[in-house]
Amino acid sequence: MSGVVFDVFSRELAFALDVCEQASKVAMKHFKRGVETATKSDGTPVTVADTECERLIRQAITNSYPTDRIMGEEEGETSAMTERQTGPSRRWIIDPIDGTYGYARGIPVWATLLALEQEGEIVLGVVSAPAMQEVFWAEKGKGAFRNGERIHASKLDDISQAQINFGSLNRIVIEGYWPGFSKIAQQTCRQRGFGDYLSFSQVFEGKAEGNLEVGVKPWDLAPMKVIIEEAGGKFSDLKGGQSIYTGGCFITNAPLHDLFLAMLFGDSPG
Ligand code: IPD
Ligand code: CA
Repeated sequence: MSGVVFDVFSRELAFALDVCEQASKVAMKHFKRGVETATKSDGTPVTVADTECERLIRQAITNSYPTDRIMGEEEGETSAMTERQTGPSRRWIIDPIDGTYGYARGIPVWATLLALEQEGEIVLGVVSAPAMQEVFWAEKGKGAFRNGERIHASKLDDISQAQINFGSLNRIVIEGYWPGFSKIAQQTCRQRGFGDYLSFSQVFEGKAEGNLEVGVKPWDLAPMKVIIEEAGGKFSDLKGGQSIYTGGCFITNAPLHDLFLAMLFGDSPG
């Protein structure tokens, strides 16, 4: 039953993969040359690649899906041609370059992120990381993939053998998650702060058991949610739900999810 319902996104997924490939070419061109950064009003960096890639993706969406809304990191929210809107409410969510800080410093761990949200649910997501020669994607109900190969979150259920990843340690401390996170750090066998898309994709692929991200935006999380779920893992926000709009998330494999959350929130002894 659900397979039939979700079939409708195959065309959009092909579109998303194609447009991310185009954006990745633009981003790679600038990456190879090197880019200057400017600072936005919120204090975060932006480069010519962020601006050009978002513009390219927006234009493609507007051409192919003029009744869909668009939200992007650099240009914000754009409403669709609502007078022509008849079907369900849909919104594309764009992060033209995830990992801009590293991108501008020549670190290859960056990606173009694109997701489609329908009636509040993320139904497809793409993470295109050309400098790492990998692209991840998932469509609701159809599994998760890396470069065309099906991927799965790990099945490990022994925390003492687990690897935990994290993004920004300072935010974990500032937002009050340090006591719980340090328990997790002490009970896992490896802790790695790759950050950006790579901390997530290792969990998608079963190379790590969890990734904690704090202080992020919906465009940093939108494709990650559907990809980890389709890989057989779990996505939780840090407010007791599964929203991409509450500023943080903990993605994990399935067996360790409840334990990791309980430890983070101090509900677990040890
Ligand atoms: C950043 C990355 C990073 C996270 C930052 C984000 P951006 O995205 O997602 O992992 O820790 O908070 O701002 O700004 O480079 O798209
Ligand atoms: Ca970005």
